[in-house]
Amino acid sequence: MGIDFLLTGAGQLVTCDPGLGEGPLGLVERGAVAAAGGRVLYAGPEASLPDLEVDGGAVRVEAGGQAVVPGFVDAHTHLVFAGERADEFAARLRGVGYEEALAAGGGINRTVRETRAAADADLEAAAAARLGRALDYGTTTLEAKSGYGLTVEDERRSLEVLARVAAGSPVEVVPTFLGAHLIPEEYAGDRAGYLDLLEHEMLPACAPLAEFVDAFCDRGALTVEESRRVLAAGARHGLKGKLHANELGSTGGAALAAELGCVSADHLLFCDQEEARGLAAAGTVAVLLPGTSFLLRTGRAAPVQVLRDAGVRMALGTDCNPGTCYCESMQLVIALACVHGGLTPEEAVLAATDGAARALGRGGRVGRLAPGAACDLVLLAGRSYLDLSYHLGVNLARLVVKGGVVCAGDGAGVPVGRGQPAGAGP
Ligand code: NIG
Ligand code: FE
Repeated sequence: MGIDFLLTGAGQLVTCDPGLGEGPLGLVERGAVAAAGGRVLYAGPEASLPDLEVDGGAVRVEAGGQAVVPGFVDAHTHLVFAGERADEFAARLRGVGYEEALAAGGGINRTVRETRAAADADLEAAAAARLGRALDYGTTTLEAKSGYGLTVEDERRSLEVLARVAAGSPVEVVPTFLGAHLIPEEYAGDRAGYLDLLEHEMLPACAPLAEFVDAFCDRGALTVEESRRVLAAGARHGLKGKLHANELGSTGGAALAAELGCVSADHLLFCDQEEARGLAAAGTVAVLLPGTSFLLRTGRAAPVQVLRDAGVRMALGTDCNPGTCYCESMQLVIALACVHGGLTPEEAVLAATDGAARALGRGGRVGRLAPGAACDLVLLAGRSYLDLSYHLGVNLARLVVKGGVVCAGDGAGVPVGRGQPAGAGP
């Protein structure tokens, strides 16, 4: 098979494979990427590009000296929901706490009510619009959770909506069952009854549509024991574990994630040395959600130095949801990870690509530009990956490529495909 995708002229090519270039980001100057059938065959210096046969109809991108990074991997979203909570966010700006709103019947419970009441078509259109915006900002792989249905029918429906949205998008969507987002209001007096329902009816209905099981193990949500039960039941249905851990308090979620060998522990605004060592030993990835910690306005970010010292691998996600962080842009998340979260620009870019891929059990398959990996990349409107943490509030994705196909971006002036400028259409 000949080459069907060829990118040349990348002033800076970020491979995220330290074996292919300089430093942790595997930087290559004057780089090129060649791919066939959606997979990278070559990523490295253009001068060393092997003499490969290029198909007549191959997509060709001349990067014009701009930087190229792997497509972003968003390791944590709540994409499927109806109703937005701008008023609640405004109240938070006036000093009302997130947990206060939840306790007063707002928060997740409110979105659950609105999601249950929404028509399939509306739920689907809203999620598709969010996924489209994520792609426009360079996300090519994205995890998405159910969790605003909290009945057998509505959890299953959320995952079905997600599957349809995924089928209509070039973005690879990784589905997670989060029936344990909260004990719903109608089960407030019978928490064990809800967990029985989850285990014996919801999981059998939902597990075939999901890859991971997650629980919101925190103050005001599920206890450690309840979360342990949910993840163990999910494992019996073949679902790998993730955990919302230690977002609102030091509640034992991080230790539970390590104990259960979860693929990831997410949020971790509270995490001490012992918990971090446990995560490192279990190979559990820390998914940091700096958009959320920034917008919760408690002044607290995940303790990255503790995580670093323990050798915990870090990933990033938007946490896109109507309550704590309504944001689809991994670019903004990279910037916030640096200016608010304390990551270096290199750590942030690695966490938004290779690290997030590992948090989804896809390390080496996506999130890096190396032979054998998916040819998912973003051509930046900028000469360096440093622009991602520096040039804020604009979309720096000039062209977004998924599996060797140009899927988004205006690409003005960049010759793509059969000599046509990107965006010019057929
Ligand atoms: O990750 N923490 C739990 N879930 C979301 C918030 C959901 C909501 O407020 O609707 C989060 O922050
Ligand atoms: Fe979340």
